[in-house]
Amino acid sequence: MTQRIGIVTGGGDCPGLNTVIRAVAKAANRRGWEPLGIVGGYEGLLEPQQTRRLVVRELDGLLTRGGTILGTANRGKFSAKVGHGESRDLPRDLLDATLEGFRKLKLSALVSIGGDGSLSIARQMFRHGMPIVGVPKTIDNDLAGTIFTFGFESAVDCATDAVDRLQTTAESHNRVMVLEVMGRYAGWIAIYAGVAGGADVILIPEIPFEYEPIVRKISERQKQGKQHTIVVAAEGARLKGGGFVTSAQTTGTGEARLGGIGNQIAAELQQRTGKESRCCVLGHLQRGGRPGTFDRVLCTAFGTEAVELVVRQEFGRMVSFLGTHVGSVPLDEAVDTLKTVPTHGGLVQTARALGVCLGD
Ligand code: F6P
Repeated sequence: MTQRIGIVTGGGDCPGLNTVIRAVAKAANRRGWEPLGIVGGYEGLLEPQQTRRLVVRELDGLLTRGGTILGTANRGKFSAKVGHGESRDLPRDLLDATLEGFRKLKLSALVSIGGDGSLSIARQMFRHGMPIVGVPKTIDNDLAGTIFTFGFESAVDCATDAVDRLQTTAESHNRVMVLEVMGRYAGWIAIYAGVAGGADVILIPEIPFEYEPIVRKISERQKQGKQHTIVVAAEGARLKGGGFVTSAQTTGTGEARLGGIGNQIAAELQQRTGKESRCCVLGHLQRGGRPGTFDRVLCTAFGTEAVELVVRQEFGRMVSFLGTHVGSVPLDEAVDTLKTVPTHGGLVQTARALGVCLGD
């Protein structure tokens, strides 16, 4: 009898979701398994069940199409995220109903594509008896257990393009331009886009900042005849001794919504330096659109490896980019701990070596 493999996407959208769906479906088909899409996140497993067949002709164009054809949910019954790297245990009756829905669809395994919230649900479902494997998705790159999550490179590309564009307008107007980028409590997008775009100041949550070093950097640049300055600030950047800047609203997951620090920084720098300063908040542009080249390759390798895990019956694991190749790690390694930017190595050191101000 043909075995059936379910595919579910959860949490916020991000470039590459469809690319992973395509890879899982293609690799499953080649193995003689039938891929079945679960529509609308895990809720699609509950009554009334919502599924989508993923026959070969349905996969055309998915390699490059942004978003997810299966839909996703980052709110509702399966919202497992609480705050800074914490997750919530789902009620037992919901776990039971989800397992029942899985069995009713005659699935042999489920591939769960998601970030820390969805993968924490995957772990709970695995412990509850569901044969499940995870695929790490988030533009924030804050999932432990993998060097890169998919979606990150595409978001960085978008942010870098924004820095490039701000360079020319800042230069024309002799302004300080602040670019606020996403990333939640991790500064991965900010540090990568900042270095790639040649920013003068990069502010990340991992290194709380003060205004004096930034003001010094602006005046140093002026002495060198450079009248403009580019600041890249992560949405989670915060003043030394201060808290995260949030709006009154919450994200789809019910977490506090970060945002607003960019405008605060621009206003304060204008007041302290007398230089005209503006803020650009990049927002959801970072999450939409086509995946970049690296992400396409990563998503494809992640999807095919997920099918291999299913075939080998290695459940409770997440596919992972290990630096030289794609392998896998236990789901336990991926959830519970946020992967943040190391403050004494990697790109932070590179930025410091260039004279970039990190606000400390
Ligand atoms: O986790 C991805 C992310 O885009 C974060 O970078 C951002 O803080 C958050 O989601 C925004 O969530 P929402 O789209 O629900 O407002």
